Amino acid sequence: MIVRFDGVCKYFQAGGLRIAALSDVSLSLEKKDFVTVMGPSGGGKTTLLNCMGGLDTPDAGAIHLNGQLLSEMKDRELTQLRRREIGFVFQFFNLMPTLSVLENIELPLLLSHAAKAGRDRIAGLLDYVGLTHRARSFPAELSGGEMQRVAIARALVHQPSLLLADEPTGNLDSENGIKVLDLLKQANEDFETTVVVATHNPQAAKYGNRHFDIRDGKLQTLK
Ligand SMILES: Nc1ncnc2c1ncn2[C@@H]1O[C@H](COP(=O)(O)OP(=O)(O)OP(=O)(O)O)[C@@H](O)[C@H]1O
Ligand SMILES: [Mg+2]
Repeated sequence: MIVRFDGVCKYFQAGGLRIAALSDVSLSLEKKDFVTVMGPSGGGKTTLLNCMGGLDTPDAGAIHLNGQLLSEMKDRELTQLRRREIGFVFQFFNLMPTLSVLENIELPLLLSHAAKAGRDRIAGLLDYVGLTHRARSFPAELSGGEMQRVAIARALVHQPSLLLADEPTGNLDSENGIKVLDLLKQANEDFETTVVVATHNPQAAKYGNRHFDIRDGKLQTLK
């Protein structure tokens, strides 16, 4: 088991209201799962992924990642765990504009002082996402689909056990959206990475072996 949520709640205060972004959410994900999370805007998808990846902390309940209880970890340990175990892919790509494609992919390795080990791996990943010829380009010179493939390569550079993608096709046309979903699926199979995709894209549904719906913070398992 890679991820377990037990009775997780997350609240936000907004304009004097208390909003339950996650309401008593329990789930467990296995290695190799490919999970889609769907549901209306404001339903809680991003909050779910952020809590899963240790970017946000729940107000109640427990989250285990690879057997470790996230809420008991110190900030530094959590940062290290995140760098080691988790890859993030976002809707707006979040690439560093002043770094080349190659440097963007290398950045997580530099942050964790693993740069030497990584050179061959970066070349392999560039090939994997079909962007070897764009290694020296900058993000502004790429299409949205290419930028998202760079972001996926960056997320995979640590060979994470969990890859979290928050609306990764939200800014792409349907052809590029499919390319990105194909790539996530390929990574799921090739590296046995658990993949969780929050999405409004109906195409994504056929990629997953598990499907969740979340609305008003309440998670329902569809399959
Ligand atoms: N930092 C915050 N402060 C206050 N409220 C927040 C904050 N983050 C999220 N919320 C609220 O929590 C609820 C869940 O938000 P979340 O971003 O998880 O939804 P979502 O399913 O990802 O929506 P979308 O499809 O639009 O991305 C919403 O009601 C939102 O307004
Ligand atoms: Mg969201």
